[in-house]
Amino acid sequence: MTAERIYLDNAATSRPKPPEVLEAMIDYSRHLGTPGRGAYAEASQTRNLLTRCRERLNAFIDGDDPNHIIFTLNTTDAMNLAIWGTLTHRLDHAAASSPIEVVTSELDHNSALRPFNALAERFPGRVVQKRARFNADTGRIDLDHLSSLISPATALVAVIHASNVTGVLQDAAHIARIIRARSDNRALFLLDAAQSLGHVPISVRDADVDLLAMPGHKGLLGPTGTGVLYIRPGVERLMLTVRQGGTGFRSELEQMPDFLPDRFEPGSHNAVGIAGLSEGIAYLQRAGMPAVVRHEAELTNMLLDGLSALAPLGVRVLSPAARALNPVDSASVGRVGVVSFTHDTIPAATLGDLLERDHNILSRAGLHCAPAAHTTLGTRETPGALGAARLSVGPFNTPSDIRAAIAAVTTICEQAAAGPDASHHVQPRDRTPRTHAPAH
Ligand SMILES: Cc1ncc(COP(=O)(O)O)c(C=O)c1O
Repeated sequence: MTAERIYLDNAATSRPKPPEVLEAMIDYSRHLGTPGRGAYAEASQTRNLLTRCRERLNAFIDGDDPNHIIFTLNTTDAMNLAIWGTLTHRLDHAAASSPIEVVTSELDHNSALRPFNALAERFPGRVVQKRARFNADTGRIDLDHLSSLISPATALVAVIHASNVTGVLQDAAHIARIIRARSDNRALFLLDAAQSLGHVPISVRDADVDLLAMPGHKGLLGPTGTGVLYIRPGVERLMLTVRQGGTGFRSELEQMPDFLPDRFEPGSHNAVGIAGLSEGIAYLQRAGMPAVVRHEAELTNMLLDGLSALAPLGVRVLSPAARALNPVDSASVGRVGVVSFTHDTIPAATLGDLLERDHNILSRAGLHCAPAAHTTLGTRETPGALGAARLSVGPFNTPSDIRAAIAAVTTICEQAAAGPDASHHVQPRDRTPRTHAPAH
């Protein structure tokens, strides 16, 4: 009999998806069709399905207008639309002699770092990038340093809400106040909610964000291939389109329409994915975010405590000072269910391999697409490898999953401590040696 697989890689994508998500996707595939690019009933039903998803998500994030929910492929696609859209507009309107500045943090993901680097390379001397430090122990961004980097020359500040390495949440509303004050209201605020949405409540109004980049396939429990950018009303006038094409309406125009969502959504939608995403959001609304937060916080703190207790066996938890908090507090501070750790002698990739091979536990080891974060954490180069091992919880994990994970890490450490005779237990699986760690 195949042993049960314990999925603790929810930070990459959530698993399982609720049955309602799968049923909606099957129903769409059997009965519906193109989203609004036709006059027949199924085409309008598909358009209505998209509208319902926009309305649900807009309510879920306390947004101002469902038409400002822009469907994308994933968070990365949403980040690219936000970054390229706003910065190309700003470049068009800034004097050629004055560089525009973009600010992010060392915790941020490659979905911010790489577009910023690409822009700086494409417009040498005109785009200047700055990065705020963070405290490795608490996982919090140094807000004095962030503040010192922002000025009226700042066009965009992009900040990760919850780190996909440490799980630590940043106080978005506080960061927004700093941005508004220091830039004389000139800089836009982009929040990367890849690891927070669906795990803690988010209000774009309370957090005062201009742009919220979201995955559909992580905390919202939708399928891969879904993501969203929320654009605060008015901010669309400060953005250029990054893709152009058909929208099914106003086909006589050879330019993109100026109304949302069409302006930023050329081409046929991932309607099957959005059908599933809509039911993922509905699932969370029925479950209630306080219950989801409470459940995940309990598991997260169990994991944190269990792994921290293994320090005498060589385990080091990253940013151990932050804990998951109760539903009321956790919207602003605390941590989501992402816990990364290293071992004194066992490479991170080997930890991941052994968790799967010997314990059927699915984790993610490596640099997690956040190289600057690992540099500050001192884990960019760990013994014989890169990065850290990461366990991440979702709403369907149970306390027994967490107990199994802690027991598995304990066994792996004890086998390593038993010495060379047990060393066969800590060899990576027979496969081509990795030159770099897996993505994410
Ligand atoms: C913080 C953060 N930002 C962005 C991304 C990219 O997300 P996606 O895979 O939806 O593009 C991830 C993915 O893990 C992430 O953790």
